[in-house]
Amino acid sequence: MGKSTKTDKVFFEQIIDKAVSPSDMEGKIEEIEELIMIYSCAIKEVSTKLEILDYEFKIKGKRNPIEYMKSRVKSPKSIMDKLTRKNLKPSIKVARENFNDIAGIRVVCSFVSDIYKVADMLKRQEDITLIEEKDYIKNPKPNGYRSLHMVLEIPIFFSDHVEPIRVEVQIRTIAMDFWASLEHKLYYKKGEGIAIHIKNDLKDCADIIAATDIKMQNIEIEVDKIR
Ligand code: GTP
Ligand code: MG
Repeated sequence: MGKSTKTDKVFFEQIIDKAVSPSDMEGKIEEIEELIMIYSCAIKEVSTKLEILDYEFKIKGKRNPIEYMKSRVKSPKSIMDKLTRKNLKPSIKVARENFNDIAGIRVVCSFVSDIYKVADMLKRQEDITLIEEKDYIKNPKPNGYRSLHMVLEIPIFFSDHVEPIRVEVQIRTIAMDFWASLEHKLYYKKGEGIAIHIKNDLKDCADIIAATDIKMQNIEIEVDKIR
């Protein structure tokens, strides 16, 4: 787990201010710590599954499909902000019931076919339940965003009980990740005030990148034949 941020500190201070008694305050902090622990465990479970699949391909002399992975547990501050945005009660229980992206894993693959290979291998595992799938590769967003999104549910075994926990998995190619990361940065800096010609240029970049992904995929198929 990363170091707690300044925004987390502000969030904790807000809770402390609102807390009516020390035991109330302690209870809230414990609740947040438990939330982070549970979702970190779910990330570990799914990440390990992905690492095993990648390792197996490597050992069997096949090209491994995963370039790299990133994961995060949504910060308490982001959870609070999302609850406010969605007009929901500011409670951890409500967040757990309503949000599928408290735990998130981003898987960056080499080629487009690897995305579906990795997704299918995950979905076939007995302890994984697919809750939701959005294919923004077959159906890109109007701005050009492409990725395969899945919400998976996995049981986490604790000392006295088992809890099904949801993890959002985003799978994309290196090229899609390059575009999404830069697009996110641009919007993060400038928000919605971006001119239409810039939006069009960004969409053009996404389409060029998608065409390159298809070319790279075709080269891979050709090269695979002579291996
Ligand atoms: P949320 O309420 O944010 O969960 O939206 P949603 O349930 O409609 O989820 P969706 O699957 O559309 O998107 C979830 C995540 O995908 C976002 O939090 C981003 O990480 C990523 N994402 C979706 N659309 C875009 C986009 O246009 N650009 C970039 N850079 N990332 C995106
Ligand atoms: Mg989301």
